[in-house]
Formats: sequence, structure tokens, C-alpha cells
Amino acid sequence: MSLFLKKSITQLLADSSESEKSLKRTLSAGSLVALGIGAIIGAGLFVRTANAAAQSAGPSVTFGFILAAIGCALAGLCYAELSSSIPISGSAYTYTYATMGEFMAWIIGWDLVLEYAVGAATVGIAWSEYLNKLLTEVIHVSPIPYEWCHSPFQSEGGVNGIMNVPALFIIFLLSLLLIKGTQESAFVNGLIVITKVAIVLLIIAFGWSFINPVNHTPYIPEATKYVDKEGLTHNFGGFWGIVGAAGTVFFAFIGFDAVSTAAQETKNPKTAMPIGILGSLAVCTVLYILFAHVLTGMAPIEFFRTKGGEASVVAAIIDYMPGYGWLAKLVTVAILAGFSSVILVMLLGQSRVFYSMSKDGLLPRVFSDLHPKFKTPYKANMIIFVICALFAAFVPGDVVGDMTSIGTLFAFILVCAAVIVLRKTDPDLHREFKTPFVPLLPILGIIACTLMILGLHWTNWLRLFGWLALGFIIYFGYSRKHSVLANTGKTVDPVDPPKPEL
Ligand code: ALA
Repeated sequence: MSLFLKKSITQLLADSSESEKSLKRTLSAGSLVALGIGAIIGAGLFVRTANAAAQSAGPSVTFGFILAAIGCALAGLCYAELSSSIPISGSAYTYTYATMGEFMAWIIGWDLVLEYAVGAATVGIAWSEYLNKLLTEVIHVSPIPYEWCHSPFQSEGGVNGIMNVPALFIIFLLSLLLIKGTQESAFVNGLIVITKVAIVLLIIAFGWSFINPVNHTPYIPEATKYVDKEGLTHNFGGFWGIVGAAGTVFFAFIGFDAVSTAAQETKNPKTAMPIGILGSLAVCTVLYILFAHVLTGMAPIEFFRTKGGEASVVAAIIDYMPGYGWLAKLVTVAILAGFSSVILVMLLGQSRVFYSMSKDGLLPRVFSDLHPKFKTPYKANMIIFVICALFAAFVPGDVVGDMTSIGTLFAFILVCAAVIVLRKTDPDLHREFKTPFVPLLPILGIIACTLMILGLHWTNWLRLFGWLALGFIIYFGYSRKHSVLANTGKTVDPVDPPKPEL
């Protein structure tokens, strides 16, 4: 059996459901931009920005945002080509199965767990930080005791964390919602997009006059080392400080690839796709740079390394913007709602990938069993909850955040490579959208993403290797033997019921 067995695109199209083939083309470039922004703004901005400034770059975290945005834009254009040439809804996993074969598809599918499940855990942990702010600043009651909202690898003032209960709780709640089946309406999505953008704008507008030039001097700190609370040494300042910050805040852009998966629902995808992808990235990049400029100007770096290390944005407003208690309250509530929608999207993405992998036989059948009433892959949702919960409850936010970044960066590199490979192996394939300047542009994407991986702490490289090694064991121990394509030549398991309504 070949490791590079590919799904035939013709058969994929034939097997895909009628509804997939006939998705209505209703989305305009504008709605794509809104979709992108809705999926993007979250914990990356409201938690990871301060971390990146504290550990890596100080105020020059703004340059980190620019590098991360460039990497995303290049990879995003490659995503758009793949999703428009293989016109069924799906993720990088499906595209790779059809273009680079089963083994590469497995690697991507396995790697996407880092983007979706571990990403959801990261946002869950961030949610828990802001929940404590809700309790103390809005409701005015005692916060959750330190040990019950931190992992066992964290400690403060002699108190050790035990498990992060609120992070576990929110992921549980949203998993239940997914099992019941949810179709976030365009209206709710629109409302969340407006709220998120509004609070970012409010913080920029009101915070601007609280920028203290002392905190911005020097803007790019001299290259030195910073040892964090856990004893890890980071490159701080200079070029590598900026690159390290880019790897961390890259998290803030994750989710924009959601735009590329909507290729089949887009009117005139040739022009709408690049506008949707680059437009939502551009809007977020501008917002992120201004926001990070204000945040690092308001409080000194030392604040983000100590007291303001958690729920950093609200902490900074409370301590450095006197008279703006109302803004701190508003931001807390909005962030909690905004984070919930990001977690939901990530859990949903994860269940879609597991569902496809299970239909292909690469994961056990239980991942594609549908609930008799709700028609959702409820068993997969429950297993995903357990995976997410383990990360959210027992691993620190910094660690899962950077694992998400490195996993997604790796997936982006493979997507860029896939475009180059596919142009060679299948030059005549109908491509609704073509990435410009191939192979130059995908190569630049690969370079930018690799640079960000190198900027992340080496412990993250080890975690990525460990994760992939575990994936290889499962692939060679289980998936290869059970592959539907390898055993029957069919592209999906013919026994199971049709696709779930997610
Ligand atoms: N980009 C999303 C966030 O920052 C994942 O929460």
C-alpha cells in the first residue's frame, strides 16, 4: 500500500453530498471580510499581545504583528487556491488527501488538532483569566482561588495551581452546545464582529492619551535575554525578539483561513477571495498594531511580567486609565462573549476534521457516529472535549498558545508547498482562484512561517516533534491498516450515514 495514495478529485466530487455541490453563492467580498474578522479577534489580541511584549519584544511587538500578517497573507493566498480548486467544503486535510496523498493528509489532519483543539484550550484559559476580572471588577465578589484556575505547572506566592476549572467549564458548555447542533446565525455573528471591533476601537481611542512615551523608549529594546517565571530563557529585544513576538502573536490571526473554506459560497471568488482574505487580514493588522501600540504605551513591560500578566488588557485599564472603570467592565463582558464564539468555531473545526478522517478510516468509526436526533457527531464532540479539557485544565496558557502557533505555522508551510506541488502534478486542474507569482509567493510564505517557528522557544519545537511522533505511531499502528481508500478504493466509508448538519 502506498503512503502517497491520493483521493481522486473526480471521485471526491462525485461522493460529496448534493448540498455541498449546490452551495448557494451568496457571500460578497464584504461579508467575507466580516466572516474573517469574526473568526480572528480573540485571545491572541487580548492575552498573547502582552505576553509577547513581556517575553520577547517590548513595544516592538507591533513589528511582530506585521511579520505575522505577512506570513498569513502569503499562506492565505495559497489556501484560497487549494480551496477553490477542490470545490467541496473541507479543510487543508481534504485538499492534501487529493493532492499529496494519504500520509501528508494524515500529518496535516493530526497537526490541525494543535490549531483547533489546543487553540480552543488556549482561548478557554484566557476566558478563565477574564472570568476572574468579571467576578472582582464587575460583580465585586471574591475571585476563584488561584489553585482552581491555574495548571499544576504554575505557582504564585507559594500557592501551586491544581487545575483550571473555569477553562474546563466553558469548553464543556460549548461542547454541549455543539452536540445539540448550532448554526450561529449571520445576525449573531454580525453582532459579535461589531462588539469585538468596537471594544478594540474604544481602547485605542481612549487609551491613546494615556500613552506614556517613557514606556515606548526604546521602541525596539536592545537584544538581551529574559528569564520568565518558569525559568525559561527568551531572546528579548532586537531582531529575534521581534521574530519571537511574531510567533506568539501569530495566534491572533488564526481563524482567517475560515474565509478560504467559503470559496464555494462566494459570488465571483476570483476577486472576492483575495479581497476577503487580504481585507480581513489588513483590517485586523491595522487594529492590532494600534492596539498593541496603546497597550505597551500605557503600562511598563515590568507590569505585564508581573501583576498584569493575566487578563492584561483589563488589568492595564484599571491601573493606568483612572476614571475608566466603565470601560474595564464593558471590555470584560465583551471579551468573555467574544472568546466563547472563537472557542465554538475552533471546536466545530476540530469535529469537522475528525469527522472526515474517520469517514476515510484513518480514525475509528466512533468519530463519525451521528446523534440519532441532533445529527451531530456527538461522540467526536465528547472525545474532543476530553482532549481540550486535559490541555485547558492542566497546561499553562503560554504553553498551549505557542503550541497552537507552531502547529498552525507548520500546517501553513505544508499548504504553501502543496500549491507548488499541485501546479506541477496537475497543471490542468480547474482553479477558480490562482495564487499569483507561483512559486515565488508560496516560497516566501514558507520562509516567513519557518522564521516564526524558529523565533518560538525551542521547547515548542520539541513539543511539535513529540506531537508528530505520536501521530506517526497512530498512523502506522492503526490508520494505514484501516484506510478506506487503501482497502476499498472508495473515497469515503460507504456504510455510514450522510454528512452531519454542523
Ligand atoms: N485568532 C483567535 C484568537 O486570537 C484564535 O483567539
